[in-house]
This record gives sequence, C-alpha cells and structure tokens, in this order.
Amino acid sequence: MFRKFLKNKLLILFFCTTTVVIVNAQDSNNSKSVEAKIDHIISSLTLEEKVAMCHAQSKFSTPGVERLGIPELWMSDGPHGVRGEINWDNWGYAGWTNDSITAFPALTCLAATFNPNLSKDYGISIGEEARYRKKDVLLGPGVNIYRSPLNGRNFEYMGEDPFLASKLVVPYIQGVQQNGVAACVKHYVLNNQELWRGHINVEVSDRALHEIYLPAFKAAVEEGKVWSIMGAYNQFRGQFCGHNKVLLNDILKKDWSFDGVVISDWGGTHDTKQAALYGLDIEMGTGTDGLTSSTKNAYDLYYLAGPFLKLLKSGEVKEDVLNDKVRRILRLMFRTNMAPNRPLGRMNNQEHIDVARKIAGEGIVLLKNDTSFFPIDTSKKIIIAVIGENATRSMTIGGGSSELKAKIEISPLDGLKKRYKNATIIHAMGYASGPSAYDRVIPSEYDLNKLKQEAIEVASKADAVLFFGGLNKNHLQDCEGADRKEYKLPFGQDELLNELLKVNPNIGVVLVSGNAVEMPWISKVKALIQAWYLGSVAGDAIADVISGDVNPSGKLPFSFPKKLSDNAAHSFGELSYPGDSINQYYKEDILVGYRWFDTKKIKPLFAFGEGQSYTTFELSKWNTDKKEYAKNESILISGSVSNTGNVDGSEVVQVYVGKLNSKVNRAEKELKGFQKIAVKKGENIDVQISINVNSLSFYDESISNWNLEKGDYLIYIGNASNNISKKIKITIK
Ligand code: BGC
Repeated sequence: MFRKFLKNKLLILFFCTTTVVIVNAQDSNNSKSVEAKIDHIISSLTLEEKVAMCHAQSKFSTPGVERLGIPELWMSDGPHGVRGEINWDNWGYAGWTNDSITAFPALTCLAATFNPNLSKDYGISIGEEARYRKKDVLLGPGVNIYRSPLNGRNFEYMGEDPFLASKLVVPYIQGVQQNGVAACVKHYVLNNQELWRGHINVEVSDRALHEIYLPAFKAAVEEGKVWSIMGAYNQFRGQFCGHNKVLLNDILKKDWSFDGVVISDWGGTHDTKQAALYGLDIEMGTGTDGLTSSTKNAYDLYYLAGPFLKLLKSGEVKEDVLNDKVRRILRLMFRTNMAPNRPLGRMNNQEHIDVARKIAGEGIVLLKNDTSFFPIDTSKKIIIAVIGENATRSMTIGGGSSELKAKIEISPLDGLKKRYKNATIIHAMGYASGPSAYDRVIPSEYDLNKLKQEAIEVASKADAVLFFGGLNKNHLQDCEGADRKEYKLPFGQDELLNELLKVNPNIGVVLVSGNAVEMPWISKVKALIQAWYLGSVAGDAIADVISGDVNPSGKLPFSFPKKLSDNAAHSFGELSYPGDSINQYYKEDILVGYRWFDTKKIKPLFAFGEGQSYTTFELSKWNTDKKEYAKNESILISGSVSNTGNVDGSEVVQVYVGKLNSKVNRAEKELKGFQKIAVKKGENIDVQISINVNSLSFYDESISNWNLEKGDYLIYIGNASNNISKKIKITIK
C-alpha cells in the first residue's frame, strides 16, 4: 500500500518532528542537497528506527519508517533474471501468478561474448524487469574468479580472468542502475568454492588478492559506481567476509571510497560487534526459517537488531557507527525507491527476448569442427538424431538462488525442430539425472539401460547425431551449496557417447554446462560446441548457431584442463582445494587459469580465449606506436583483421602482456586488452587497442601498493591465449 503511494508521487514528503523535507525531481541529482536531507532525516530518527533499517524484516526486505515516509527496501536474486517471489518468512515460493520473467543467459555465457556492449544491454534489460517487479536491489552480478572446475557456482560468474570480468561487470551495473535499481555485486570476496562456504577460512597472499580476486570488485565500485555489495560467506584471514575489517573498512570503504551499502549474504553474519564495527550495513537471512524458528520475532534477534541496540545504548558502540550505516542506506534509497523520476520498467517484452538471444548466440563457443560438421544445412532432407537429456531439460530450474521462473524456455530440441523443417529429427533421452532438488540428489527412476539402448538405436538410423550432454542444475552439478564431486561427465555420459560412436561416428557434441568437464572422447567426435545455460531462448540460440544463421564468435572465459590435477588449485593437493574443512591455502598464488597453464607449459584441453568461427580470420600488420614508454603513457597497438573465409563473422583480438626478466614471479602473460570486431567476408578492418602503462604494474607486498617495473615487456597479439600471431617487445623507461 505504502509502496503504491510512492510509485504515484513525484513529491515525497518527510514529516519530521519539527520540519518537512521535500524531495523533488529537480534536486534529486544534486548530491549535496541529498546529503543534507540525509543528515536531516538521520537527526529525526530514533535509535530504534535506525537499528531496524539495518536488518531484515522478511526474507528479502528491510523495514522503512512509515511515520517519516521512508519506504521498505525490496531485494531479489539475480543475476540471470529476477527470481520468483519468495514467501515472507521461509524459502518457499509465494505462488504469485505475475512473477514469471525473461531468463537471460548465465554470466559465463555473457563473459564468453567478450562484448561489453552486450553486457550493457543485459544490465538494462534485467534492470527493467527488476524495476517492473518493484525490486530496489538486484542481487547480482557475481564476479568470483573461476579457480576450480568443481566450484558449483562458476556458472554465475564471469570466468578466470580479472581483466575480462572487470570489463564486463561495469556495463552490467550501469545498465541495471539506470533503472533506479541497485546492482549488488557479489560475493565479496574469495567465495571460490561452495564446499564449506559457510565457514572455510581462506589464506591467500596480498598479491593474489589484489591482482586476481579483487580487480572485478574494484572496477564495480570505482568505474561501475555500484550502489551495493554482498559480503561472502567464507572467512578471510580468520574473520568472516561479511564483517571483515581489512576487506570492508580498509579496502572497500577507505581505499576505494565505496559510498554504498554492504549487505550480508543470507546467514553470513556471525557477531554483533564485528558486524557493527567492520563494515556491514544490512544483515539479511540470519536464521533460515525466520519467524517459525522463534516464539519471539526472530528479526529482533538478528545481530544487527536487539543485540546491536544494546551495545549502542550501553555506549560500547558509538551512535556514529549506526549513523554511517543509515546514511548509506538512505543514500541507496535516494538512488532507488526514493528517486522520484525513475522509469517504470517492463517485463517479458520482445526486446528482452532479443537481447537474451543475441547474448546467447554470441556467447556459444565452437571448440572443434572437423570436416565442417557445423553448420548443418537446413535445406537438406536428412535424419538428425538429437540425443541426451540436456536436449529437453529445463535449465532455469535448480542451481540455487539463481533459479528462475521463466515465462518461456525453449529447449534445444524445440529450437532445432522449429529451424529444421526439411530434416527428420528423431530423439532419445539417452541418460537421466533425476529431478532437481536443493541440497540433495534424487536418483532418476528411469531404466538407464533401456534409455541407452533406445539412444543407440536412434543414433544408428541417423545421418548426423547431436549429443546434448554436460551438467545440469542439480545438487553436486552446477548448483549452489555444494561442489561437483568429480571432473568427468555425470550420469554415464562418457560410456553412452562411446557406445553411440560405435554405431555412428558422425557425432557433434553440444555441452550445456557452466563448467569445464573431462572429455575422454574428444578425439573421436567430429565437433564440439560449448553452449552454457542460455535461458528463455536457449533452443533458438543453439539452432541459430547450428544452422549457421549466427556465425559463432564466443571465446572461452576459462581454461578447460585435460585432467583435474592440471588445474593450478588442484595441483597443490587438498590443502589448496578444498582445504581441511577449516582452512584452505591458495598455493597457486597469482597463477590462476591460463596464467598457470602458460607459465608451467601445461597444455590445456581448451585454452582461455579459444573459440572458432565458420569463417577464417587473419591478423596482420600489428604494431605498437612506439618502442619505449614512460609511466602514465598509453601503448597504442594497431593492426588489422581480415575475414578470409566465405561468411561474415566476428573475431576477438586479444592483447596479453608479459614482463621479461621480472624481479618477481610473474605469469608468462596476462590479458590487458581485447576488442570484438564484426568483419564481413573478404573485408579487412583496422583495429586499435590502447593499454595504460600503469596497468602493467604488479602488486608489491613490500610497499603494499602497485609497482611498475621498468624494463622489457612482450606484447602478445592473438585470437586466443594459445594462438598468438604477433609478439612485440617494448620497454618501459
Ligand atoms: C546466496 C546469494 C543469494 C542469497 C539470497 C545466498 O545463499 O549465496 O547469492 O543472493 O542467498 O537468495
């Protein structure tokens, strides 16, 4: 009722004990006057009212102060769509009939587009849906770094490279927030595995922290100007990330000047004094059953509720500490639910579907294509066998908090049937995984042997076989709350593929997953597509690429190791991953992902940045504007990309830099620039990429700051981390 009142008013009145504060459209952008209003509101609030604003009143909201016209704050999961409405006091769905939405592709897919413009479109669209659903804070995007292929939540993040994630997170945030909805970048920080996430203590060097794990969060704050951030569940150096002095007070709020709100992960708060003093502003999700777990109002028992009030009243914690939290919360409100002129949003419109399809099409990665297996000509009267549970399984359901109630979800099988009118499409499930449930595995009731026999029979009749396998959103797959138990494909898929290959070697594999998997069959199949979780129009986007309507241009945002022990974190044994259940040590330090494979000369199965096209590109004439540079200068790298094949396409030029003879350990090379360019067949396009010399610095622990080493550097220009076409030596003076 109160929210309705706000929606319809351009003027919001704050009736204070002595004065009336009026916020209107003209001055809402004037930060000075907003800060003055905030001061005034704070001086009008009671201690109890201020404390109440610092913790939940329901699963996804915090209370307002009705007497002063301060609204409630409503949050929703992200990051791939606006989650279905959840009950007030428990995790059950509320069963509304107006909360089904557009499901956008998972963030791994967005990262694979290497296209910041699409990230902006993603942010605008999901922000519009959040706004239409009357949400003030969207709990996303996630930018935890891909450290292990077993992490159950990798699909929600943007891959293994801090530069790529930084470039993509900024436009997403800007897009969301232009709707008057706050993005909430998560999970700050080092929540790089789900196993023991609630308590594991991460020990990592300052250097790896600053070079690998923090940059995307820093970009979110400094460039994206994100309005809220979620603390991670795990501990860092013995203190929970949700109230961690170093991470929240020193780095986030002081060094990066973050002026927004720190929100705890749900149940991530553990101590009142630390929550008060070490940077947490809003406590959410403590006590998973809300009111049902207590005879008294459970929300009054939150760390930042009654116990906080007690510390304030006794003087053990100063009121200034509380005022700073309330100031941040009110600032967030002036940006969102108290901004008088924010747009109204929209939902399930054709433009959002188009954005989802475009991102899906640009993020799909073609990894192998012998004998031009793909694209498959749509005019041919052939028999195509579509085999595998992932051809029909919903991938918006399951996975944990990113689960969605999608208005539509087109399966790969439906997408292919729509596009291939001349071919005969036959289908077999092949394997079965069981229904999706949070925190438990429900085995399938299908007769697995029968499914296999059916699939073999179907494959033997076809001209071409498309195997849709991979992982899914079940517990112990790509799902929150636990990690995968093994690197190999689950549900007997390796064995099934081997059987299918015996009766029909003309097989192309489409992997639907948010993680790398082992591929013992890779040399035997004709082709491989990495298709991620693609959301509402998954099937259409897959058919777009398989038919050649869309020429694939996605690049891997993380490396696929041949075997698990080739991955850096795993190569150091259990204390590195997953830890001993109390502590874990990031022993690979800065050598995460391709940094490890390159430096240690280990060949991955597929490399970071790798991805093929239906056309061929040539990179030529690449050079730098100078050979020597000073600090604060930029290195301008120019060259051209020619499309030497028969169809239009897009290529991603990737620029990596490595220090020669460094005085510290360094990765052989690190991504420092990239650009995606559309090039028509037969055409040639000139490209320029600029790199700031300062970005070549390493984090020097001896001075606790960035340090730019003088001397020689190699610039690597290519279209994948393992396909470099030009190396140029430059010197920093
Ligand atoms: C997840 C968060 C999510 C929150 C609310 C937590 O379990 O880690 O990412 O936003 O729940 O659903």
